[in-house]
Amino acid sequence: MKLLAIETSCDDTCAAVTDGPRVLSNVVSSQAALHEEFGGVVPEVASRHHLELVNAVVAAALTGAGTRIEEVDAIAVTRGPGLIGALLVGLSTAKALAAAHRKPLIPVDHLQGHVAANFLEPEPLEPPFLCLVASGGHTLLAGAHDHSSFETLGATLDDAAGEAFDKGARLLGLGYPGGPAIERAARDGNPEAFEFPVAMSERGLDFSYSGIKTALVYLVRDLGPERTERRRADLAASYQRTIVAQLVAKLARAARDGDWRAVALGGGVAANTELRERAASLCEELGLPLKLVPIELCTDNAAMIASAARFQGQIPYPDYLDFDAFATDRSSVRAA
Ligand code: KG4
Ligand code: ZN
Repeated sequence: MKLLAIETSCDDTCAAVTDGPRVLSNVVSSQAALHEEFGGVVPEVASRHHLELVNAVVAAALTGAGTRIEEVDAIAVTRGPGLIGALLVGLSTAKALAAAHRKPLIPVDHLQGHVAANFLEPEPLEPPFLCLVASGGHTLLAGAHDHSSFETLGATLDDAAGEAFDKGARLLGLGYPGGPAIERAARDGNPEAFEFPVAMSERGLDFSYSGIKTALVYLVRDLGPERTERRRADLAASYQRTIVAQLVAKLARAARDGDWRAVALGGGVAANTELRERAASLCEELGLPLKLVPIELCTDNAAMIASAARFQGQIPYPDYLDFDAFATDRSSVRAA
């Protein structure tokens, strides 16, 4: 089944063409540079740029795959969760393309997309597996028992892990996106130099990042601008160590609790080297394979949306014309 997929839930304008588990093209136009001066994504700016870019990105995906829209079997699109204005650009584009060509539409949940990145070639992963999805908007432990859904085993109670990186980087004057900036700065730092609070407690598999961020606010204030700048590498390394430690501790708990065939990482934070290394050590200790998809399939992309769409129901023309996007998470069954 050949699919064209569109993803515009945040600040990347993405389109891809897949044939079963094979990625024929995967185009991402990042707006990161546009949002840099604001230290984060500005929803209105993101929507406007999606509008300007989406047709060109779809055309590039079709050309890159050596195919025409007439040849695709259905059009897949992210329906939510995400920034509502941004989502609506992708959804309207997908509906218009599908309707014009009398194709079926497949609406996809963004988080299911992150999990489904693991079903793509090379080496598609078979459920049941445990997937840690950590991005700028989400942090959750997904139990993938089958191809079409997942169980939320734990999620963040406040900020997402990527958001903690982004806000921390802004406090340290390190630019946006914050994750790669903190990772670079941390290379020259001592991860034990500063202690940050870790909200581990008895809260099962949920995450919390607002305390770490607040601690950094006070630390930076107490140190003052000069000492903050001098200790920037140590601050970045300690901050990164704390965020990653919580991700890995909860991942370990969930991995031990369930009967999984493998552990996988998804979302932009999965690009973090320290997280990858610590997850690898954990999996070695547990005797479980660790599945790491390429970075371009971890961060937001449309190939993962096409991958999820293979296992979701198709909506025939014209039943999808009044479909709406949704901003908040409604993707999965919450574990008891
Ligand atoms: O999945 P993604 O591209 O978009 C969202 O759905 O949010 O994730 C972006 C997030 C940003 O918060 C960014 O700072 C973080 O992923 N990120 C990283 C790294 N690369 C990107 N965080 C830590 N280390 C990295 N190397
Ligand atoms: Zn995402």
